[in-house]
Amino acid sequence: MSVEAKDLQDEHQKYVEDLGDFTRTHSCGELNAAHLGLEVRLAGWVQFRRDHGGLIFVDLRDRAGLTQAVFSPEAAEQAHRSAAILRAEYVIAVRGLVRARPEGMANPNLPSGEIEVLVQDWKLLNTSKTPPFPIEDRLDPGENLRLQYRYLDLRRPRMAANLILRHRITQSVRRYLDDAGFLEVETPFLTRSTPEGARDFLVPSRVNRGEFYALPQSPQIFKQLLMVSGVERYFQIARCFRDEDLRADRQPEFTQIDIEMSFVDEEKVMRLAEGMVAKILKDVRGLDLSLPLPRLSYVQAMADYGVDKPDTRFALFLKDVTDIVKDSSFRLFASAPLVKALRVPGGESLSRKEIDEFTEFVKIYGAQGLAWVKLRSAGAGLEDEWQSPIAKFLSAEEKSALAQKLELQSGDLAFFQAGDKAMVNAALGNLRVKLGEHLGLIDKEALNLLWVTDFPLFEYDEEHKRYAACHHPFTSPAPGAALDQPETARARAYDMVLNGTELGGGSIRNHRAGRQREMFKALGFSAEEAEDQFGFLMQALEMGAPPHGGIAFGLDRLVMLLAGADSIRDVIAFPKTQKATCLLTGAPAEVEGAQLRELGLRLREQEKPGPQ
Ligand code: AMO
Repeated sequence: MSVEAKDLQDEHQKYVEDLGDFTRTHSCGELNAAHLGLEVRLAGWVQFRRDHGGLIFVDLRDRAGLTQAVFSPEAAEQAHRSAAILRAEYVIAVRGLVRARPEGMANPNLPSGEIEVLVQDWKLLNTSKTPPFPIEDRLDPGENLRLQYRYLDLRRPRMAANLILRHRITQSVRRYLDDAGFLEVETPFLTRSTPEGARDFLVPSRVNRGEFYALPQSPQIFKQLLMVSGVERYFQIARCFRDEDLRADRQPEFTQIDIEMSFVDEEKVMRLAEGMVAKILKDVRGLDLSLPLPRLSYVQAMADYGVDKPDTRFALFLKDVTDIVKDSSFRLFASAPLVKALRVPGGESLSRKEIDEFTEFVKIYGAQGLAWVKLRSAGAGLEDEWQSPIAKFLSAEEKSALAQKLELQSGDLAFFQAGDKAMVNAALGNLRVKLGEHLGLIDKEALNLLWVTDFPLFEYDEEHKRYAACHHPFTSPAPGAALDQPETARARAYDMVLNGTELGGGSIRNHRAGRQREMFKALGFSAEEAEDQFGFLMQALEMGAPPHGGIAFGLDRLVMLLAGADSIRDVIAFPKTQKATCLLTGAPAEVEGAQLRELGLRLREQEKPGPQ
């Protein structure tokens, strides 16, 4: 600091010590022409300082917004002189008069843009080092820097708005569920493994050496136990922990709006849950959601969209063309168990390069390649020309049947995928979403909500070569479902989908111990294994468990979609990176040998991180 600045600061320090009360009267976001002439006290951060013809202008920022403070030598000589020390992100309090900005100086983009505060006194509450990035929405300093200095990132208006939105959604949920007679109950973090399909985070026990707690993947078992306890209507804004590969909509710790109800069927749970979402949209967006929400069966969703969380904001549909090409001279089509196609209206304009990119994209889902045809108009009165590497393999009848089934018109393109069902659906279903984005077919303002129902009870786990629960093992089979026919058995499970994201999922549970035992058996648990892991639950089910069911919503995902954010990291105050690290605190970190010893743990030499 220069000698002059130091003198100024010392002088200012002396000056402010004599000043009286600086308690805030208003926030920086709320002042407008209605406050003209009022003496106000504000506090906040210096967003920006500029000196102009003897006047110093400071944009003062707090959570609610910005107000311009003017330091004038005529109005307050000493306050003006000492304001020379102000820098970005200094924390100050000011006292002054609200006045109209001079003619032509109003800022229509700012709620407080018609006024400014003519400073009488001010107080320095703290200085700040130059921040590593400016506190502005317009500039993107890169996510690593943002996460390292998250407390600064959260000062940015967009991030502050996301936190506020999250808070409002949470409060709206609490009000709705409280009004509906729900009790908010907390359940443990240090617990036993809950089988939600991900890997557990383990916590070693010091007191019980060699034993581990698992952090809950969800409160599933506890909320069922609360039903046995007679709580009848439970909810929790619950933190869940899952050690899984991270993506834009997945975090290792995330928050659920977790709900469980007794004496209900799926209809009651779904009505209650969609009512909650409608209430949230009303509260935070002023929207009237039309209820009941549309429903789609799992089978229909897979047939038309290739995925169980369809984005219904645009009308591209998958069509099964297996029958049409089953005798085709194109071997790949003729030999495949399933051939599906996706019509892209006007897709003739897609370039070879774009098609190559889509071909690379579908390989993520196990596809070998991507067949396509383009329909070129050959001129008035002439038949459309089929332009495609596979056109020569298709007979005239096949072409006309395909054109009819896919409703192909001149200028269209159709993509084809042939192979096993899971791959074909995954490849074309995800390509569909990518095309929707690529071709600008998605209305970004739309909020398309729907239920997907009638899920399978089991799904085949390729890795372990066995059937696993599609939802979780506590889900009740649909009436008449045969547990020994895992391909066809349906579950009493439902998911709520918003714009192609799974927002929530739940089910009616097995409330009779016998049925639950059958489920464990069908899932390949021996009686001993089931007893060992879930004996306490089965015992509870044997002591008057009422029929019950519930649902859990991903709060982070809901906030992300309503905030228009691209990642749930943008709506979580302190999220982890894609590599599950915290750049702010440096977690996870190595610990002292003594701590490990206390826990009875020793790292194996070869697994310690060595020098790179
Ligand atoms: P499920 O496993 O479907 O159900 O989870 C419910 C919802 O939680 C959200 N979610 C996630 N959000 C962010 N990061 C993650 N890693 C993550 N994993 C899941 C999704 C999902 O829809 N106990 C059952 C619910 C029940 O049956 O009542 C359960 O946890 O939005």
